[in-house]
Amino acid sequence: MSSGLLFLHLCLIFTLAATLEFRYHNNPEIEQYLLQVNASNPAITHLYSIGQSVRGQQLWVLALGLSPRRHTVGIPEFKYVANMHGNEVLGRVVLLQLIDDLVRGYRNNETWSLQLLNSTRIHILPTMNPDGFDESDTITSSVD
Ligand SMILES: *[C@@H]1O[C@H](CO)[C@@H](O)[C@H](O)[C@H]1NC(C)=O
Ligand SMILES: *[C@@H]1O[C@H](CO)[C@@H](O)[C@H](O)[C@H]1NC(C)=O
Ligand SMILES: *[C@@H]1O[C@H](CO)[C@@H](O)[C@H](O)[C@H]1NC(C)=O
Repeated sequence: MSSGLLFLHLCLIFTLAATLEFRYHNNPEIEQYLLQVNASNPAITHLYSIGQSVRGQQLWVLALGLSPRRHTVGIPEFKYVANMHGNEVLGRVVLLQLIDDLVRGYRNNETWSLQLLNSTRIHILPTMNPDGFDESDTITSSVD
């Protein structure tokens, strides 16, 4: 096999097997991740926008649950919001990891994930202030 072909195969394998890296993600990366999680887990996720930032970035919220698109009587709604202050970025990482764990747990039939998704609807807004994140240059320079 030529090295070019081998490289292509490795890229494909890494794309298919991609799990979320434990690191800071910039705003376009977060958006891409949320769109991809939403597209590949239609049974338990629902991606919606609560509006746009001053600079026109979508404020994406991912809802997770066995009935992700609508409220179910008796099922409590939880909301997690991160990155209200642009330069406070740890919550972004934690909430993306929570999404990743929930979705993977559901796929692997893990009881903790099934029980959470069956008994609550969880809304996750990983960044409430994407513009502020872009402004805080110490972080963006280490991400870019
Ligand atoms: C989320 O995924 C569903 C199912 O594939 C799709 O219909 C919907 O348009 C997606 N939402 C967004 C915001 O991309
Ligand atoms: C999921 O877990 C339940 C309870 O442990 C088990 O009964 C069921 O067979 C599992 N399903 C799959 C697809 O692994
Ligand atoms: C969700 O909870 C209901 C009520 O406790 C139970 O009957 C059902 O089997 C659960 N579904 C899953 C997928 O765990």
